[in-house]
Amino acid sequence: MLLRDVLAELASVHWSSLDDELCAIAERTTTALSADRVSIWRYDVTRSAMRCALLWEGERRPLPATELSERGTPAYWQAVHEDRTLAIDNARTSPALAELRATYVEPLGIGAMLDSGIRVRGDALGIVCVEQRGAAREWTLREQDFVASIADRVGMAFLIDKERRLTAKLEFAQRMESLGLMAGGIAHDFNNYLGVILTNAELAFEHSSGEQRDELSAIIDATRRATSLTRKLLAVARKDVVHPQPVNVGDAIRAFLPMVERGAPSGVRVALSLAKDPLVISVDPTFFDQLLLNLVTNAYHAMPGGGVVTIETGLVVEPGTTPLYGIGDLPAVAEGRFARITVRDSGHGIPKELLGHVFEPFFTTKGADGTGLGLSVVYGGVRQHGGYITVESQPEHGATFDVFLPLSDV
Ligand SMILES: Nc1ncnc2c1ncn2[C@@H]1O[C@H](COP(=O)(O)OP(=O)(O)OP(=O)(O)O)[C@@H](O)[C@H]1O
Ligand SMILES: [Mg+2]
Repeated sequence: MLLRDVLAELASVHWSSLDDELCAIAERTTTALSADRVSIWRYDVTRSAMRCALLWEGERRPLPATELSERGTPAYWQAVHEDRTLAIDNARTSPALAELRATYVEPLGIGAMLDSGIRVRGDALGIVCVEQRGAAREWTLREQDFVASIADRVGMAFLIDKERRLTAKLEFAQRMESLGLMAGGIAHDFNNYLGVILTNAELAFEHSSGEQRDELSAIIDATRRATSLTRKLLAVARKDVVHPQPVNVGDAIRAFLPMVERGAPSGVRVALSLAKDPLVISVDPTFFDQLLLNLVTNAYHAMPGGGVVTIETGLVVEPGTTPLYGIGDLPAVAEGRFARITVRDSGHGIPKELLGHVFEPFFTTKGADGTGLGLSVVYGGVRQHGGYITVESQPEHGATFDVFLPLSDV
């Protein structure tokens, strides 16, 4: 197939995910150039290092741990950023690869390399790297042009993916907002009626005796349960009154631990990995416990066969990264210093298509056993405290919930 046709074909397909598109690009590039390996590298947030996002060698390969950095490989770094493409005919003698020779070029037996920077709207995003094993090879101008166009294609794929994520986030925020409004609107009035019912039932209970007492006590019980449900709905709608106060995250988690450990199903262990330095946030302590309880309980439910729940904390300064399947309003605009509270389990995980729904009120996969309000309460409360929450999950490999709450100034 002509190089031109490969580009035309790649441009004509509508890919449903970034991953599919990158794999297709890498596969076609390998074939079109009769090369052995194609890798796609992306800058980290600091822009002084790149990590491999995809490695293709006949098929998708596990990502190498190698990091390319300006500090570690200055000659290569400069060479790859100098021109549109970096064509290395002989990898064994090229000065640009001197730093990578012993750790990369020699062990992999790389003979020639053809790299091109990925740029979108003037922004450098990473590089595409084509490698041939064995002998040296003279890259033609046509091939160099081709790789530059492939890098553009990858840049376009990154851009489309970013826009797709933004749209998904916006839709999610709107959905949460309207569901929250509805839940909150009903709950508010309902809660007032329940208050009247409860007060009167309690009064009647005081004045009653015998069988009537049993009946009234059943009414009181049910009303209390209904009240707790409407409180959840109010929390979802962020209409709940909160009383924030300085809370040391580590202390609060340690104090809370015995309670969750008592509730742990057999075969489930709770592990702590808390930041050494104190993290003080301004939070309603009742909400903080509720947050942990909901996340840990969900983790328990996801591990009927046993496993480990890890509660981890850390300090995050200006989080700028978006996790792969993160949902929440926007790390991109979050600024400042946050305490990260992570609850990770080794359970069955959450299918990709459901990830965007778990925070919605009433969304549950537990049938009658779940109200589907746990995570929406957490979401509402976290937002109310000026924080955000994200979720990541690989089905069969557990789920990770990251909560970010702003550090208090005191
Ligand atoms: N750690 C987890 N692992 C796998 N799935 C999860 C996890 N946490 C939440 N989920 C999914 O998200 C859904 C919503 O969770 P949420 O806590 O809001 O409601 P619930 O747990 O179903 O009901 P409730 O909290 O009222 O008991 C769950 O039904 C489950 O499908
Ligand atoms: Mg739950």
